[in-house]
Amino acid sequence: MPYRDMRDFLAALEQQNLLKRITRATDHNWEVACLAKWMYQALPVEERFGLYFQNIKGTSIPIVTGALGASPKSVALALQCDAQQINDKVAYALRHPHQPKLINSGACQEVVLTGPEARLDKLPIVTWTPGKDKAPYITTIIVTRDHDTGIRNMGVYRTMVRDPHSVVINLAPGRQGFRNVKTWNDKGKTAPIAWVIATEPAVHLATVANLPYGKDEMDFAGGLKGEPIDLVRCKTVDLKVPAMAEIIIEGEVAPEDLDDEGPFGEFAGYMGPVEKRPVGKIKAITHRKDPVFYGYTSQMPPSESTTIQSLMNAGVILQMMRDEVGDQAVHDVWIDLTFGGLLAHGIVAITPQFPGHGKRVGRTIADITTLKRITVVDADVDIRDHTHVDWALNSRFSPQRDTVVIDDCYVPIQMDPSVRDARGNVTPGSKLVLDATQKIDSGPFSLPPKELMMKALHVWKESGLPEFQIPKRAKLRIERS
Ligand SMILES: Cc1cc2nc3c(=O)[nH]c(=O)nc-3n(C[C@H](O)[C@H](O)[C@H](O)COP(=O)(O)O)c2cc1C
Repeated sequence: MPYRDMRDFLAALEQQNLLKRITRATDHNWEVACLAKWMYQALPVEERFGLYFQNIKGTSIPIVTGALGASPKSVALALQCDAQQINDKVAYALRHPHQPKLINSGACQEVVLTGPEARLDKLPIVTWTPGKDKAPYITTIIVTRDHDTGIRNMGVYRTMVRDPHSVVINLAPGRQGFRNVKTWNDKGKTAPIAWVIATEPAVHLATVANLPYGKDEMDFAGGLKGEPIDLVRCKTVDLKVPAMAEIIIEGEVAPEDLDDEGPFGEFAGYMGPVEKRPVGKIKAITHRKDPVFYGYTSQMPPSESTTIQSLMNAGVILQMMRDEVGDQAVHDVWIDLTFGGLLAHGIVAITPQFPGHGKRVGRTIADITTLKRITVVDADVDIRDHTHVDWALNSRFSPQRDTVVIDDCYVPIQMDPSVRDARGNVTPGSKLVLDATQKIDSGPFSLPPKELMMKALHVWKESGLPEFQIPKRAKLRIERS
């Protein structure tokens, strides 16, 4: 059975020991973020869990963070598949989307606050880099739509609280949400916008996938969920939002209404600059009777943000390469979890069909994604195991011959601190493709043959040596020995 809402998913996480409750009184102005930072800065990925702060000072609304993106295990549980099958699940959902279903009423509107009642200070909005950030901000799904075509977009854009009734939204040029808002503002009209806080996990995960403009993330979410997402109409703006969400904030963006956004802790690991960004006016807050608040942990990597963006976009790239580009030799894709999204390192496994195939795949992916580094390896390398990828780079890659540097790439300056030179001037971005596929057959591996290695496992056991799970890297090597 698909999860109906975030609550269903949180219960499943708790059952698997992937969510821990904090019962002591906690301050959302600093403690929530600092504990979340320790989770990602101190614990190895396989030991991470989501945090459920059930006793937040000054409010009855609990805060959850890290639940979706603690680790591949959490994302797999959200997608109701095995961690090794996330790419397959994403590719399947892209091939089998479900359009959403409009229903008359939904839990997200059990309480409706409009006008002066719709105050952001009623919500426990977290300060994510306490001591350094200008203000608290919301990190959640934002829904917009094109004025003329009705094309909907969902994306996560940091939303700074300016006062109880207005926000400044980090809608940067180039983002699809920005493009949708512009279609209204260019006609002198206010654009409708809605923030969706804590709904079924498929919607959250679909939102962070970088889909081409025009592909509706809500249809993709339905594909991930295995059934249409139920939507309701917003109360004060012309948008539809998930019926089972915990909290919806409805708002409008007026033309040429900009304000300073930031400084804030950024995903690359530094404090970002102040930029002029669109102002949003809050029209309504609707919520369930006893809502739960959710905020993604982002900023200094690794984070929940890098984890979910890496895992979702790897599947999207795999599907694009196979279905849209038509290259069936692309076998698997992985994006390093420590730096998801823009500027990340993608690793691609292929079965090369001709000389130069590795470079071609690397260049294509560099062009159609925001990845900054792409390493291409053969399908006999476990791309999720960096020691195995490093082995391929050491034994199958000759830097002078197998490197492609792609220059003059557009990178939003504020997003990539490395594009400044020693004098602080902005230089164009660039990308790196490393083709670590085998160029010639180097012969058999320097391991004993498979039957001897398997026989030796019995000897290992009988000798009372500690048990182990055979790593995929070893399996792949023994298969070829
Ligand atoms: C926690 C989190 C915070 C994010 N914050 C921003 C942001 O402030 N601005 C931005 O442009 N992208 C941000 N992103 C990335 C976008 O949400 C993501 O790339 C999305 O797919 C963009 O959608 P679009 O291509 O439809 O515009 C964030 C992602 C996550 C997971």
